[in-house]
Formats: sequence, structure tokens, C-alpha cells
Amino acid sequence: MKRTKIKKLLHTAPTGAKVCVKGWVRTKRTSKHVVFIALNDGSTIHNLQLVTEPSKISRITDITTGASLAVEGTIVSSQGGAQHIELQAEKITILGTAAPDKYPLQPKRHSLEFLRGIAHLRFRTNTFGAVFRVRHAISYAIHQFFHERGFVYIHTPIITGSDAEGAGDMFRVTTLDAINPPKKEDGRVDFQKDFFGQETNLTVSGQLEGETAALALGEIYTFGPTFRAENSNTTRHLAEFWMIEPEMAFYNLNDNIELAEALLKYLIRFVLDHCKDDLAFLDKRAREAAKSKKQQEDTLSLIERLAFVLSSPFEKITYTEAIDILRNATPNKKKKFFYPIQEWGVDLQSEHERYLVEKHFKKPVVITNYPQAIKAFYMRQNKDGKTVAAMDILFPAIGEIVGGSQREERFNKLCAAIQRLGMDQKEWQWYLATRLFGSVPHSGFGLGLERFVQFVTGMENIRDVIPFPRTPRNAVC
Ligand code: 4AD
Ligand code: MG
Repeated sequence: MKRTKIKKLLHTAPTGAKVCVKGWVRTKRTSKHVVFIALNDGSTIHNLQLVTEPSKISRITDITTGASLAVEGTIVSSQGGAQHIELQAEKITILGTAAPDKYPLQPKRHSLEFLRGIAHLRFRTNTFGAVFRVRHAISYAIHQFFHERGFVYIHTPIITGSDAEGAGDMFRVTTLDAINPPKKEDGRVDFQKDFFGQETNLTVSGQLEGETAALALGEIYTFGPTFRAENSNTTRHLAEFWMIEPEMAFYNLNDNIELAEALLKYLIRFVLDHCKDDLAFLDKRAREAAKSKKQQEDTLSLIERLAFVLSSPFEKITYTEAIDILRNATPNKKKKFFYPIQEWGVDLQSEHERYLVEKHFKKPVVITNYPQAIKAFYMRQNKDGKTVAAMDILFPAIGEIVGGSQREERFNKLCAAIQRLGMDQKEWQWYLATRLFGSVPHSGFGLGLERFVQFVTGMENIRDVIPFPRTPRNAVC
């Protein structure tokens, strides 16, 4: 008999239908005359209840939490359970056992920290099932959003020779012998003998290659893994994360901000519309987590927060305005910020970003026109000679979720920025060429997928929204 997914059954099955389901046991309750088994197949947060008599199952002791089953039976209306239907099981085949003394997941609440240690099994829990179904929905909706607007999906390389962000946080890619690499006369490693004949690294951003495509195809986006070797052990940093980077010819900074706000709202609306059951579960979970931490009662629930972001236009302020607000903020005056704000020109830390979003404006904030000195070389220089046409979007509970800018399209100004930073102009010929041949004003931004999934699912730690997190000193399985 062909397998039916539990999600479909729970939505459509008429009673009396003969079906086959396959999945993993969540719980089993046995009494003298009846056995109840909760089966989950990953298609939905909900389990299907199987009902049978102990005498009808041959290896009943092998049916334990984690075991996999194929079950044939008849759909009947449920007597008392949470579901309106259940499956009167007629034939149960055990596909794989899960020895109870070895299987680490039990039908109880496990800590997220414990589950991180068994990332290969945590998909089997309600929380991670919900998170990864939502992550999928977001990824799908991202493609839909751009496709509807005529953007072209460009696959930019993962191995590159350049440092797009100029921060130097790169993972080297090499096939040279680590212990005894070939050396040049001056004693330095000879990368000409390396696989690509030059130094290469894992990309920190697909933007620069994306720009070259936008300057021909008009509107493009990249969506792929990016890698940063920053030694940041925070709840918002990964060494390997996924980034969505649209790049648009003929867009100025305001067009860029408008597109980013439209994308973020489109994705939130999509999840609210398509992931109701998972969101309801995550909402309850977040509420319980907040209660156990004795957080204020008046904070919004997860779903309320998503609806709230949809309902309000993002606040738009300049960096200079942000510094004025922060300088006069109570936590700054009372020396509560770890990094006190004194002068114009300092970089904003996450404590400052969260103050602006959560305390001051109480909604998402777009900050524009940052000092040139704290931003990447490719950003368009403003007339004031001090700032660049940058924009960061800050979200509640997350801080920076989007970073972008209008790009410097003027050849001479871009060369000057490259020179000022001591970068080797020869290595940037390909990028500079786009400014020599038919250069146009253009803009783009990067959205961190995991930070966005965190916001939508309410998961506090970024390690819990990517299947196998890579962080400093951690790359197991
Ligand atoms: O602000 P960032 O560094 O911008 C860029 O890489 C540009 N090239 C984007 C562009 O204009 N095309 O990174 C963009 C976003 C951040 O706002 C954040 O959401 C996410 O990527 N991000 C990280 N997410 C997880 N872990 C990290 N280590 C991250 N670093 C950045
Ligand atoms: Mg940034």
C-alpha cells in the first residue's frame, strides 16, 4: 500500500479509509487491552495516534521511543485524544529499533544545550522539526519573492581570491602540505605552487561577483553559504552561515531600503500564512521559556511580534542621529553600556542596536550614512566627505539583520578607497573594470538567513536554527 503523509491524513482523511503511514515513535502507552502509539513522520508538528491491542503486535517491546514503523490500518474518529482522527492499526512492521538504554531522546523536555551535542538526532524533536520546516518555508519564499520581481538567481563562487568585506576573517583554501609547504626565497609560503596558483579562501560574501552580474542582468540575487573566521562566540554569530544578497542596477539607497523592507515583510507574512501549526508551537515554547526566565509579562508573544513588525513602517534614522540618541540615553549616562558612547565615529555594538530598537523606537530601525572609516571599501561616498551611503536594518531581539549600501560606481573614488586601505589595486582589476565600462549607480544588501530564522522562530541561540552549526572550536558531524 502507498504511504500517506500524516499531515495530509490529519487534514483530509475520511474515517473508514485504509491507509499506510510510516514514521518514528514518539511515545507508547500500554494497558491490558489497548496500546496507544504516537507516531510522527516529520511532515507536521502533530503526531498520529495509533490504537491497537497488545495481543495483535508481535514485538511490542521493540516499539519504543525513536523506533521506526510502517503501519497499515483504518482511520477512525478519535474517542478522546487531541486529534479528531486516529489509526486503528492492523499491521505494524518495525523498520528500525531504537534501544531504549542507548537512544538519547526520551519523551520529556531536553535542554537545547544537550540537543546541540546530538545535532544528528535533534531533528526528531518537536522544536527542531518546527524550526527546520520554518527555515525551509523562508528559503522557498525568498526565491518566490525575487522570482516574482524578475530577479535572476546567480550562483557566486564559494572559493574566491578576494576579501569582499576587508575584515580579514577568512578561511584559507589550500592543498599545500601544512607541515612542509613550498617556500619562496624570502621564506614565505609560495602560493604560486598552490592548487589555484594563488592564495584562495572561502567567500565571506557573494556581493562583488553579484555586482558584476547586476551590471548586465539588472536585478540579481545570491543565496548561499558564506564563511567568516571571526572568533565571536555569541548567540548571533556563526562561522558558516547563509546569506541572501540582492544587487540592483539603477537603485539608490532609498530604493535599496524599500526593497529590503518589502522582502522582510513578505517573508514574515509568508510564514504567518504557511507555518501556522509550527508557529503556534514555537510561540508557546517561547512563552514558557520567557516565563521560566521571569521575563516581563508585558512583552509581546512571538506571533504578536511578527504581526507588529508587519504593521509598522520601519524607523529610518542616520548614524549621526543614532549617536545623538545613544549619547543622551539613560544607560549611557548611568554607564550601563559596556561600550560607552562618547564620540561620533565609533562603531555601534549590539547593546546599542538593541537599545535603539527595543527601548527607544520599539520597532525595526534602519540606520543610514555611517562613517566611512567603519564600513567596507565599496560603499558610495557621500558629499560630506565623512560618511558613506550605507544602511543597516536592526530587529528586536537580534540587532543587525541586514547590512547594505549604495555602491561606489565612480572609478576614481573607488580607486582612491582601495588605495587608502592599502589594498592591491592589481588584484581588484576585475571589479574595477565594471566601473570603467558602462558603470551605473547600483545598490544591494545582505540578509543573514539564520538571524532572520531566529527572529521568526524566537530561538535565542543561532546554533539552534542551522542544522549543523560551525562555531569556534566546534565542527562535529
Ligand atoms: O553586514 P555584512 O557583513 O554585509 C555583507 O557581507 C555585504 N557584502 C552584504 C551586501 O551588501 N551584499 O553581513 C550581512 C548580514 C548581517 O547583517 C547579518 O545578518 C549576517 O549577514 N551576518 C552573520 N550571520 C551569522 N553569523 C555571522 N558571523 C554573520 N556575519 C554577518
Ligand atoms: Mg554588517
